[in-house]
Amino acid sequence: MIKPIIAANWKMHKTIPEAVAFAKQLKKEFPEPGRADIVIAPPFTALSSVMEVLKDSPIHISAQNMHWEEKGACTGEVSATMLVDAGCEFVIVGHSERRILFGETSKMLNKKIHTALKSGLTPIFCIGETLKERESGATFRIIQKQIKEGLNNITSDDIRRITLAYEPIWAIGTGKTATPLQAQEVHRFIRETIAADFEHARASETIIIYGGSVKPENTGSLMDQPDINGALVGGASLDFGPFADIVKISER
Ligand code: 13P
Repeated sequence: MIKPIIAANWKMHKTIPEAVAFAKQLKKEFPEPGRADIVIAPPFTALSSVMEVLKDSPIHISAQNMHWEEKGACTGEVSATMLVDAGCEFVIVGHSERRILFGETSKMLNKKIHTALKSGLTPIFCIGETLKERESGATFRIIQKQIKEGLNNITSDDIRRITLAYEPIWAIGTGKTATPLQAQEVHRFIRETIAADFEHARASETIIIYGGSVKPENTGSLMDQPDINGALVGGASLDFGPFADIVKISER
């Protein structure tokens, strides 16, 4: 049985006091490990403070990005070692906003995934197609390419330590959610691709979460799909009420 992950990606939102207040509410509401793992990805500036609040709680912390080098002359970047130091267990790699706004390529993402694994972080590797790609019937080809390139030279053992996030770009921040069946179709394809590309991968155990306009109203129907193992929530994770509802619905 896969334990679902409900992850909050706060993107470039929340000051330290705002992040701390949210973390305190979360800790109070979910003091014990539940049927889903909760992961919070605050901005870098709030990582340590959120960690202070959540250190003796079952809630996990993720970074939103990292550099692939362990250290060096990379002004403005943060390394995997620094993230572990700040209390992170997860790191989001390859979010479409990083790919599109900051020109991150599959090659860079592959290096990041290798470094993250080496440092003991669990990468949440994001993949997904644009609207144009979907409409031209290229969804599966794009997904397959992103998996092949992003997970190049990853071993079957390591694939077990990676969480995949299917985030159709046309559904991010647009209010347009993929229908549960549209999402399920791609999730199943991702699982089959992992099974085919990684011998002994135990693809049935790979955690594949969905992101793109997830809110309390659509969480249940998405989570009912057999290959959807959780959610990566943007907008609806910024307010405590809707995010707590998403966690509770996914634990039903
Ligand atoms: P929204 O939930 O705001 O669509 O964002 C999804 C996302 O990008 C999570 O990483």
